[in-house]
Amino acid sequence: MKHTITRKEVLNGADYLIDVVAPEVAKRFVPGNFCMMITVPNGERIPMSIQKTEGDIISLYFKKLGKTSYELDTWKVGDEIYKIIGPMGSPPPIKKYGTVVFASDLVCGHAENWAMCDILRKIPGNHIISIQSFPTAADVYPDKELCESVADEFILATEDGSRGVKGHYLDVLQKLLEERKIDQVFAGGAIPPLQKISELTKKYNVPVYTTVRQIMVDATGMCGSCRVFIDGEQKLACIDGPMFDGHKVDWESAISRLTMFKTKEAVAMDCLNEKMKGVK
Ligand SMILES: Cc1cc2nc3c(=O)[nH]c(=O)nc-3n(C[C@H](O)[C@H](O)[C@H](O)COP(=O)(O)OP(=O)(O)OC[C@H]3O[C@@H](n4cnc5c(N)ncnc54)[C@H](O)[C@@H]3O)c2cc1C
Ligand code: FES
Repeated sequence: MKHTITRKEVLNGADYLIDVVAPEVAKRFVPGNFCMMITVPNGERIPMSIQKTEGDIISLYFKKLGKTSYELDTWKVGDEIYKIIGPMGSPPPIKKYGTVVFASDLVCGHAENWAMCDILRKIPGNHIISIQSFPTAADVYPDKELCESVADEFILATEDGSRGVKGHYLDVLQKLLEERKIDQVFAGGAIPPLQKISELTKKYNVPVYTTVRQIMVDATGMCGSCRVFIDGEQKLACIDGPMFDGHKVDWESAISRLTMFKTKEAVAMDCLNEKMKGVK
């Protein structure tokens, strides 16, 4: 199977999107699933959220963080990704919830939110409010890549107030919870705010699904790298998640586990920098 890149666009200074041929993933994808990607033979496996599918094509949003994401940013339309595996994970129920808020402040969450908003909005009785937050106006994605077209109400927030509402999604949600009846919240993106949104929604007695991104090595349930504790019980984010009831997540343990490969990631990035210098 050739996983050819069919589109590549800049989203902001650090984030970019690619469309890539992946029929087996596209055919079976349900919002809440993710895929595993290996860009080159013997390359690392990296988990990726899927923003949308169209025919055989899946759309992915990337942040330039380390070796693989920087390297992939040098690729062009027509280049081929070695392997894309999936869909993986256990999506939350796709059903009538009532008034649903989707919130994110980071690339993976913006992608997930899009897919979830799009499917839940088609279910009668759901009213979808999307809050997407970015640090500044310069970081905001192009209009057509924001969740506006897949939500009933769309709130853009920037932390410095340079575009949209001033503040983080947590500030916007707090106001909504004070003013309106919200039946369900979904949140993705950076992990520390997900702990805060879990505390906030608990205060208002509103259920929340949070995406607990953990380091995934195999994503087949064999290595245990992605374990999370839900109500004291061990679960695997790659099999049972990655979306979990935020009120039940052991956030201290989930956050502490994220740094376990930092030294190796830094070494890989140094090697890439050396390689790139050689190319110039
Ligand atoms: C379910 C899930 C969905 C994700 N969706 C997206 C997405 O839509 N867009 C996106 O840009 N990123 C997403 N990520 C994170 C993504 O996998 C990492 O950004 C990517 O692996 C970075 O690799 P790198 O070599 O560029 O950077 P590295 O230097 O290897 O890593 C940089 C940081 O990325 C994270 N990371 C690295 N490897 C993994 C891994 N195997 N599993 C999980 N996190 C890792 C860690 O926080 C790490 O510190 C997702 C992660 C998970 C678990
Ligand atoms: S990534 Fe290995 S068990 Fe989930």
